Amino acid sequence: MINTRMKTMPETGLEHAEILAQMKQYGGEDVNYQDSRTWSLVYHLDEKHTDFLKQAYGLYFSENALNPMAFKSLKRFETDVINMTASMFHGGKKAVGTLTSGGTESCLLPVLTYRDLAKSKRKLPFRPEMIVPQSAHVAWSKAAKYFGVKIRYAPLKSDFSVDVEAVRKLINRRTILLMGSAPSYPHGVIDPIGELSNVAQQHNIPLHVDACLGGFLLPFIEKNGGTVPPFDFRLAGVTSISADVHKYGFAAKGASTVIYRSMKYMQHQFFIDEDWPGGVFASPALLGTRPGGSFAAAWAAIHALGVKGYCENARQIMKVTDQLQSGIKAIEGLKILGKPDMSVFAFNCSEENLNIFAIGDQMDALGWHIDRVQRPEGLHIMVTPGHAKIVSQYLSDLKTSVETVRSKPELGAKGNAAMYGMIAKMPFRGIIKKEVLKMMKALYSPTGDMPMDGGNNPLSVRVMSKFMQRFGRSKNN
Ligand SMILES: Cc1ncc(COP(=O)(O)O)c(C=O)c1O
Repeated sequence: MINTRMKTMPETGLEHAEILAQMKQYGGEDVNYQDSRTWSLVYHLDEKHTDFLKQAYGLYFSENALNPMAFKSLKRFETDVINMTASMFHGGKKAVGTLTSGGTESCLLPVLTYRDLAKSKRKLPFRPEMIVPQSAHVAWSKAAKYFGVKIRYAPLKSDFSVDVEAVRKLINRRTILLMGSAPSYPHGVIDPIGELSNVAQQHNIPLHVDACLGGFLLPFIEKNGGTVPPFDFRLAGVTSISADVHKYGFAAKGASTVIYRSMKYMQHQFFIDEDWPGGVFASPALLGTRPGGSFAAAWAAIHALGVKGYCENARQIMKVTDQLQSGIKAIEGLKILGKPDMSVFAFNCSEENLNIFAIGDQMDALGWHIDRVQRPEGLHIMVTPGHAKIVSQYLSDLKTSVETVRSKPELGAKGNAAMYGMIAKMPFRGIIKKEVLKMMKALYSPTGDMPMDGGNNPLSVRVMSKFMQRFGRSKNN
């Protein structure tokens, strides 16, 4: 529970010190990202860099990029960040783009853009469709829902990259966009963007590359001499790319980019209402007010790190990734899913009677914040430079966890393992949706009920017990 009662505003303001102390106390229950015990959510470089970002953010804390004429500084930051990112992706002289609030916005926008581009070319109404790999980030399914575009999932091959022949077969007259990830969130695999680019060109359909995760890492792995399959504007069929500065760009949260090959595409992203009583209104992206602080911090992060800094980070990140992957492979009973191209990957069990989610529970109990994936089931890793200091602890805890679960297989039928196992195997997905909706309503109710079970996992015990009551235990538990 966040609150035990409805909270009302204090009658008179409290002392700043008192407020800050209370806030710090609330933070005491949060996951520990400073010690690199989390594997997503926070891309933390070090305290020095964070303090610098705070200064940069603070300089433009109140400024609003809603009106670029009023705050020319922010427009300059935006133009610079976009140009630097576009050139990193070999965008050419015509490349354009906008800063956005994050990866989700940078995935939502191309759907809107290409839907309206397609509509502008047709006289009759039609139901637009887009084709995305089954491993596409969930932001794409959100975009489909928000913008009324039917999403058609292309299956993955056994290496977890999209099956391009399947994509080709799904194309029809209503297809407004193809998409590939560089890399995908669940498995860290780069889709065959070169092949998708050929298909996109043959059919004259825009191709977006979701490089929200990899955008600020892959180019530097390549500069360091690593092998990176082509994924950017060097491929003629790629029409746009999204890349998050607030992930491997190590900027403050609230900064991503969406870059288009040319204005021919991006013009369809712009919103203009010439009749609004508040005045003629124009905005380039989803938000109205756009926070100056995150623009400033994005600009500052790129200038502070530069190519050399990003290359050093990439070297460190990939070194830690190698150590983790070889360490995991060396633990009997575990295997990596596919052949990840980057520092993001998932692993599961190679022995039938080992339960990966039970292993995750053991890791949680040892103080880690572990992310789970489904279809196939696995535990997820996203490496940042800070993880260098915990590699051996993580691997030794993982080995212990595997041994514990091997000696007590009944752990697979308990706690979060049972819940995740059941959710992953449940055939009636609508029921899960209904239960999660109930959980969301509780979480966003006036009391802010926190449906946690004492662990880190975002699904409630109540949801699990509901499943248990209705469907009994799953076969595998
Ligand atoms: C490939 C990919 N696209 C989009 C997103 C969405 O980014 P955000 O969480 O910043 O909205 C993510 C987030 O992890 C991602 O991995």
